[in-house]
Amino acid sequence: MDRNLALELVRVTETAALACGRYMGRGEKDIADQAAVDGMRKAFSDVAIKGTVVIGEGELDEAPMLYIGEKVGTCRENDMEVDIAVDPLEGTNLIAKGLPNAIAVLAMAPKGTLLNAPDTYMRKIAVGPKAKGCIDLEASVEQNLKAVAKALNKDINDLTLIIQDRERHEDIIKEARKVGCRIKLFSDGDVATAIATCFEDTGIDIFMGIGGAPEGVIAAAAIKCMGGEMQGKIIPLYEEDAMRCEELGWTEEKREKLLTLDDLVNTDDVLFVATGATDGELLKGVTYLENNRAKTQSVVMRSKTGTIRFVDAIHKLDKNDALIETLAKHK
Ligand code: FBP
Repeated sequence: MDRNLALELVRVTETAALACGRYMGRGEKDIADQAAVDGMRKAFSDVAIKGTVVIGEGELDEAPMLYIGEKVGTCRENDMEVDIAVDPLEGTNLIAKGLPNAIAVLAMAPKGTLLNAPDTYMRKIAVGPKAKGCIDLEASVEQNLKAVAKALNKDINDLTLIIQDRERHEDIIKEARKVGCRIKLFSDGDVATAIATCFEDTGIDIFMGIGGAPEGVIAAAAIKCMGGEMQGKIIPLYEEDAMRCEELGWTEEKREKLLTLDDLVNTDDVLFVATGATDGELLKGVTYLENNRAKTQSVVMRSKTGTIRFVDAIHKLDKNDALIETLAKHK
């Protein structure tokens, strides 16, 4: 894929983050989410691609914008055909409460290479490059923690597991406590936290737990760019999710399959882009400056070269057409 597209895509996540940034702490997660969706969709219209949303806001009947199957980009005859995975606001509760780690995020890869994951849950495990090859979603928590500690040459008491603070994770947390590792619980936003395993200075060594399946594919794109490892398994937690999986061809047999990083992202040419909405482990959130300006921080990754680029930008809020339109709509 054309590397210049990376910068184009930064504009897309920047616009989404700027569109929802004003809703920080206002307790209105759906309005914030809609603003991010509007901003992202508008900004996509200038990107020279023939994109199809494979991970998006839901099926057409439940999402009027950025729905699964929607075409995005300029869609001209010679534009490259690509799969797009988006989460315009990952961590809607986080922005509503002004908590860390809300991001606007997307991944892009050649057509047919991103897993069309159903909108249900996924059991996941992820580690950074140094522990690649040591994890196994089918193995016990203890076996995984000990294998990662060994790979990192760390005492088990110094190993840090990050896991979402949910009742469904009680057993994992209990076992991890028994083994004696450190545990960091987070409230929401498992894309940023899974990726944090790949950045040594976050101090996070391993990510485990059940979270959104679409978020799993997006996180896998970044983990692939950074040379880490991730595995997943589709787990519908509720009866209606299981029914929807069946409708989409995710039969019980298919759901049994362990999804490797290559199953989640089946290419070595994926782009991952995220912009901070609130301050977090990885990125600074949107900061508002005097004279109608705002500052954003984004990260762009490209698996082909392994380049990870942080992009700081100062925006004139009254000069960005996509943003002006979105902000006016959500005033
Ligand atoms: P939203 O941005 O859709 O609110 O998702 C936040 C999130 O924490 C994801 O990061 C995670 O994958 C999922 O919710 C977990 O789902 P649940 O809140 O049902 O446990």
